[in-house]
Amino acid sequence: MTAATPMDVLLSRASTDRLVAPAPSAAQLEQILAAGLRAPDHGRLRPWRYVVVEGDARPLFAQKVVDSMLRLDPQTPEFNLTKRRTRFATMPMTIALGMHLRPDHKIPLWEQEMTVAAGAMNVLNALHTLGFGGIWVSGPITQDPVLAAELGFAAPHRLAGFIFAGTPDGTPHPAPARPDPQAFSANWQGAPVTFAADKD
Ligand SMILES: Cc1cc2nc3c(=O)[nH]c(=O)nc-3n(C[C@H](O)[C@H](O)[C@H](O)COP(=O)(O)O)c2cc1C
Repeated sequence: MTAATPMDVLLSRASTDRLVAPAPSAAQLEQILAAGLRAPDHGRLRPWRYVVVEGDARPLFAQKVVDSMLRLDPQTPEFNLTKRRTRFATMPMTIALGMHLRPDHKIPLWEQEMTVAAGAMNVLNALHTLGFGGIWVSGPITQDPVLAAELGFAAPHRLAGFIFAGTPDGTPHPAPARPDPQAFSANWQGAPVTFAADKD
């Protein structure tokens, strides 16, 4: 069997939350986060921040997540609270994606946020490259300034979501069919382009 090329690896990544131990080791995590820091970064503002939650810290953080849900909606059904608590308490590793933002800087905020997003994509690809699985999740709690501050991101800093990371549990994960790249690209030749992806 021929070894997978870097392009094979890139094209085979798919998100999964069917994750079990082990999470990446400390050495692997260092590499994974180093990949995050290779993202393009206008102005070298270095807005990426990663907060790793694992081991015994997980139920503590899961409680903060539940507190956040209730803060945002005191009527949140018990079922939803339990589901989210279980998820955050049992995922092998959660990497909170912090955005260290500088609203007054000449580099616009949206560019700073995209740098964090580009870093997150590199983290997902690095996880996959090392044989781990991951998924980027968000939800209303991502917008909760109190939860962000509890992680270390007091305003104007914010959260961009969370990456769950671990070992894929082995159950077949039906990779969603990927769209045809041709439908999402076009050659510009002087007039506005259209995309097959936009035709119903
Ligand atoms: C900013 C952002 C937030 C997301 N939040 C969620 C989420 O809260 N829940 C979820 O199931 N998927 C969420 N997703 C989508 C998944 O990360 C993932 O992309 C999706 O399940 C499709 O899988 P794929 O990456 O294999 O295409 C989010 C993606 C991004 C970029």
